[in-house]
Amino acid sequence: MRQHFPHSYLYNMAVFVSVMSTIVILLLKSHMVLGEKQASFFIFGDSSVDPGNNNYIDTIPENQANYKPYGQNGYFKDPTGRFSDGRIIVDFIAEYANMPIIPPYLDPSADYSHGVNFASGGAGILSSTNLGQAIDLRTQLKYFEVVHKWLSAKLGSFGAEEVISSAVYFLSMGSNDYLGGYLGNPRMQELHSPEEYVGMVIGNLTQAIQELYMKGARKFGFLSLSPLGCLPVLRAIEPKAAGGCLEQANSLALAHNNALESVLSNLDHLLKGFKYSNSNFFDWLKDRINNPSNYGFKESVNACCGTGPYGGLFTCGGTKKVATYELCDNAGEYVWWDSFHPTERIHQQFAEAIWAGPRDDVGPFNLRDLFFHREDATIAELVDDNLENKF
Ligand SMILES: *[C@@H]1O[C@H](CO)[C@@H](O)[C@H](O)[C@H]1NC(C)=O
Repeated sequence: MRQHFPHSYLYNMAVFVSVMSTIVILLLKSHMVLGEKQASFFIFGDSSVDPGNNNYIDTIPENQANYKPYGQNGYFKDPTGRFSDGRIIVDFIAEYANMPIIPPYLDPSADYSHGVNFASGGAGILSSTNLGQAIDLRTQLKYFEVVHKWLSAKLGSFGAEEVISSAVYFLSMGSNDYLGGYLGNPRMQELHSPEEYVGMVIGNLTQAIQELYMKGARKFGFLSLSPLGCLPVLRAIEPKAAGGCLEQANSLALAHNNALESVLSNLDHLLKGFKYSNSNFFDWLKDRINNPSNYGFKESVNACCGTGPYGGLFTCGGTKKVATYELCDNAGEYVWWDSFHPTERIHQQFAEAIWAGPRDDVGPFNLRDLFFHREDATIAELVDDNLENKF
């Protein structure tokens, strides 16, 4: 017995140690997997974030950008369909989040392993906006459901839920609803007052957010509307403004942005685990338009690529109605690339602002917080917030 006891004791110890070390290794491994695992990135929107989905649909030349001089700065070998001289905001965000460029959903060779981009130039939150010429938000949500099913088949429903709940959902949409959908659509203006129309757009956007939440989405980022009235195309069609911004368009953008912020802060109270990052693209861009040299720009009124007053006649290659256009020498000095879209430089600067920027530009979370799970604000930030609320 005396001999047996230490033997079995040692034996038990050995089994215990080996079981424990297996558990420790498993824990370490699972921790490493969790630590390495990245949040996926799903993007919904219009030309501000379209990486080339419109290359694959039947639409008008104005809604495509897969021809020169789009993409002329050479970051991508050939024009990709991005409405920019190079990259767009979501390309920079993917880079900051240590992931590759997120591919267009409709690209047959797309690798969905880090997420998918559903955005489509010309698309609206309302399905009536540019009907039949773009992939509207409703259809983008249907495509997301296809990807959701694909994830479940590949990872099992538990694995798919993990991906869905840890992913960041970025939405950039609404400009087309107010431009072509309302200001360029007298019939819609007869049917709905501006307040009513903003209510419809925001109502449909809210519904989309709630649908995504019901499917398990938790982390949302929003690119708010820019000062739409300062787009070269709107400066050009407003003779009374004499080179100023079209106030009617700016008012719609501001009304939309204010309504969105109040919806988001309500959802924040109502939906458990809901986290969002909203941005103030309106004031941020207005500041660059008014003070270009403070930010390294030389030209903030005229488009780099276009023709007519302010380069506001929408033509920049392709087979548009007006074929001729002028092109500036250095797009990096311009705020506006074409009559509707900012340059890569603006995309990059705003990406930096919403990734890790100050509270004036982004909040309550910035995108870095959403991607890297920084749940808790520091004491210094809380103190700052209190001061902000007081004054
Ligand atoms: C969504 O938009 C449609 C018009 O396209 C409108 O009739 C409907 O009321 C809107 N939905 C919400 C929830 O606001």
